[in-house]
Amino acid sequence: MTNTSQELSTKHILGIKYLQKSDIDLILDNAVHFKEVINRPIKKVPSLRDVTIANLFFENSTRTKISFELAEKRLSADVVNFSASGSSVKKGETLLDTVNNILSMKVDMVVMRHPAPGAHHFLAQNIDASIVNAGDGTHEHPTQALLDAFSMREKLGSLSGKKVLIVGDIKHSRVALSNIFCLQKLGAKVRVCGPPTLIPKHIPSLGVEVSYDIEDSLRWCDVANILRIQLERQDIKYIPSLREYAQYFGVNKKLLDRLDKEIVVMHPGPINRGVEISSDVADSEHSIILQQVENGVAVRMAILYLLANKRNSSKLVS
Ligand code: NCD
Repeated sequence: MTNTSQELSTKHILGIKYLQKSDIDLILDNAVHFKEVINRPIKKVPSLRDVTIANLFFENSTRTKISFELAEKRLSADVVNFSASGSSVKKGETLLDTVNNILSMKVDMVVMRHPAPGAHHFLAQNIDASIVNAGDGTHEHPTQALLDAFSMREKLGSLSGKKVLIVGDIKHSRVALSNIFCLQKLGAKVRVCGPPTLIPKHIPSLGVEVSYDIEDSLRWCDVANILRIQLERQDIKYIPSLREYAQYFGVNKKLLDRLDKEIVVMHPGPINRGVEISSDVADSEHSIILQQVENGVAVRMAILYLLANKRNSSKLVS
């Protein structure tokens, strides 16, 4: 196993942009150990006994919420869950008041999903708990990018020099931006492909290639990470119809059969079958979509474990 005595450079996971390559390597290496733990008959370890974690979800979530909760419970943390619907947020309470009330119940870490980009930075400046960003609007989703990188590394070895394609709604996807930052820090080459209306104009300035040709892009890549059209975030119509999108950018078996090479297919979920990905690809041997979900728990265990270590060591110093 890896050196688990090393420490993260940061007390929070606000975005991949703020992590060093050594932090990413440390998280991925520790996740290898935790993946082994969650495949044991007894999946629970006592690492976070006496640590209390609040999961605050101000936006919908299935996978991410369950994944964090499982990770926390398998580390023996005490867990409280909060979702905005049915809470006092609906009665006009501010974010800071909501969180301060929860913190007075002696919470050590906050895992939060929030529609406002930057909400996590605001909290990190105002409260003492460690903050983990579980998705902030269209901005970043760092733990998804880390589990994606872990899943790619597991399949392909080192990501240095590997070609990763991100397909779809780049404009509204926090998974896209976090993946771009993470893959570049790990030395991979990144290309995005989708309709011009869904690719922001500033993307090339991040050092990312842009293509509007799905077949050429699939031929270019080692891995294709396929994203959902974020219909809930579109204030205007960016594509004529989902049927037309599926026709021009949907990844299906016919396309993959024309490539004469094997590629790895990924998707962060939730999948819209028949739109961005066909069932015969999502359920094929190319797809590692369910491995991504399994790896998500191990990667989040590694993140929470390393953040708890960081908190302990800074308490010892002060
Ligand atoms: C993603 C998200 O919420 O940003 N899903 C996830 O966390 N697994 C992607 C999406 O909603 O399309």
